[in-house]
Amino acid sequence: VEPGPLAGRHVLVTSGPTHEPIDPVRYIANRSSGKQGHAIAAAAARAGARVTLVCGPVNLPDPAGVTVRPVETARQMLAAVEAALPADAAIFAAAVADWRAAREAGEKMKKDGGAIPALALTENPDILATIAHDPARRPRLVVGFAAETENVVGYAQAKRARKGCDWIVANDVSPRSGIVGGVMGGDENQVHLITETGVEHWPTASKSDVAERLVARIAAALGPLE
Ligand code: PMT
Repeated sequence: VEPGPLAGRHVLVTSGPTHEPIDPVRYIANRSSGKQGHAIAAAAARAGARVTLVCGPVNLPDPAGVTVRPVETARQMLAAVEAALPADAAIFAAAVADWRAAREAGEKMKKDGGAIPALALTENPDILATIAHDPARRPRLVVGFAAETENVVGYAQAKRARKGCDWIVANDVSPRSGIVGGVMGGDENQVHLITETGVEHWPTASKSDVAERLVARIAAALGPLE
């Protein structure tokens, strides 16, 4: 059997949402299903890579041949990513909560007919930016995602620069995307790959086909093992 194009490589993928607790029974979350990130991890494994998949709470089976590190919060996701390094390439497909509750209540918050509680938020660490901006730990190829509801390519280009990744995969998570079931949660995606040389508009395809194509590009960018 021919070795795959990513044989000998370690590929790190993040996937899914994060859950940020408010109290022991309530949390802040988003609509990410993990389908796109899991498909990328599966495709990288089929291409012969050793794959670590750090994922938030999802209802998906573990992809074949992949080491899965399940987490709940953004802070746990950052720690699991750091523990998984070094990697040759990292793909950040997770929909990490930008904010968490400033204080997590130790007991269930009671309704008790009193005042409606205000939810104070605080910022979560940016996992992609943290790793991409750290020369000591940065994988050779860092691929971010950008989930936008307007000005998709423009905002994604700004995110690529701000977060310090090599490539960014932009997708439209608005209800207007035309993707059945939505890009968050559905089985298809339509992405724009933004690299150092420009923007490619890829056609609507299954998340698995998007993953295959992205993984082929990653293998080509890394080149053959020395
Ligand atoms: O999971 P699915 O249902 O299949 O849906 C796929 C998807 C829409 C979730 C996926 O294709 C996608 O776009 N993932 C990124 C979602 C997101 O949160 O994007 P963002 O534009 O907010 O973040 C930009 C980048 O920074 C992303 O690579 C994200 O992983 C990363 N990030 C963001 C915030 C944070 N605190 N830490 C991060 O690492």
